[in-house]
Amino acid sequence: MIRLTTTLAPMIRMATLATVPALAAIALPAHAQDAQGKLKVGLMLPYSGTYAALGTAIENGFRLYVDEQGGKLAGREIAFFKIDDESEPAKGTENVNKLIRRDNVDVLVGSVHSGVAMAMARAARESGTLMIVPNAGADAITGPMCAPNVFRSSFSNWQPAYAMGRVAGEQEKKKKAMTITWKYAAGEEAANGFKEGFEKTGGQVIRQLTLPFPNVEFQALLTEIAAAKPDAVFAFFAGGGAVKFVKDYAAAGLNKSIPLYGPGFLTDGTLEAQGESAQGMLTTLHYADSLNTPRDRAFRLAYAKAYKMQPDVYAVQGYDAAQMLAAGLAAVNGDVGRKAELNAAIEKARIDSPRGPFTLSRAHNPVQDFYLRRVEGNENRMIGVASKALADPGRGCKL
Ligand code: PHB
Repeated sequence: MIRLTTTLAPMIRMATLATVPALAAIALPAHAQDAQGKLKVGLMLPYSGTYAALGTAIENGFRLYVDEQGGKLAGREIAFFKIDDESEPAKGTENVNKLIRRDNVDVLVGSVHSGVAMAMARAARESGTLMIVPNAGADAITGPMCAPNVFRSSFSNWQPAYAMGRVAGEQEKKKKAMTITWKYAAGEEAANGFKEGFEKTGGQVIRQLTLPFPNVEFQALLTEIAAAKPDAVFAFFAGGGAVKFVKDYAAAGLNKSIPLYGPGFLTDGTLEAQGESAQGMLTTLHYADSLNTPRDRAFRLAYAKAYKMQPDVYAVQGYDAAQMLAAGLAAVNGDVGRKAELNAAIEKARIDSPRGPFTLSRAHNPVQDFYLRRVEGNENRMIGVASKALADPGRGCKL
């Protein structure tokens, strides 16, 4: 007698069905049919460590969009498979292979940390699994590593940093800056993006400081900044590390004499913890707390109702990752096997994001406005558009 269970590897199940088609419908238990009907979404995100809050916000945003669609995308219910990647690149390949090989997911959503996301993108490219990056800005993912099945709902590390460099030079009239960040892809690419934008305005980056991720012993570097006396400091930190850095910068008294700039990650989702130390800071990002559009108001209301907290940029990126997936699935009636059509539909989608509508570049990165924001109370208030419809150059992408 043939017994089929959900634990059988899908290939064995398919072979069995092919040889005994008449038995298949009878033999397949109802719960197994349900399981096959569900779309498997692999969430590989940090749920511990300095980026833990970011992972949770992304998942919340993703689930909110799915819930708004009645719990289904293109008629298919969603089954979530979750992994805490700990923002640990060394475990990235092993972790993503659990989702691809063991859980046989239809789509990968992740991650926050650029190093982890690069390991995921490599595996997605090799296996052909659809992947949507809901945060990690690694320039390479929409650069030399770009692939037909890999998309991003967030930003490239270059984008907000480049926009900030222009503002620091053109608007704030700064001439000599220093950068400080964690020594890994995201920090280094952000520092370089700032330098590129700033030096276009005639400014000069005099020193680039780093410390290992996710260290928060900033004191020696703050002393170095105080001694060098630049006109401005540009910092990339996020999550728990950003909270600590902004507080330490203020505690050292530096915010009184040397303005601190950054991509908006420095003050997004962190303001309650940063309190007084962040007031007045200028940052650039593809989201702000006071956009006040009907689309954003509806999103913020729904998010606050569902999760009893305000959304941040990470929540928006998670929400939009689900929107991108939905756009692809709609074009293939939920059949993820029709890969070329699925990818093409995501590529062409115009996403009605809370941040404002966006499309994707040739390398699959959002082409979007970067807002200039100022911290006022617990809000990153939008005070202007720093770069309109800014596209990552996608250097090295051959698609
Ligand atoms: C990244 O590693 O790419 C990264 C992490 C946290 C952020 C932004 C970028 O807020």
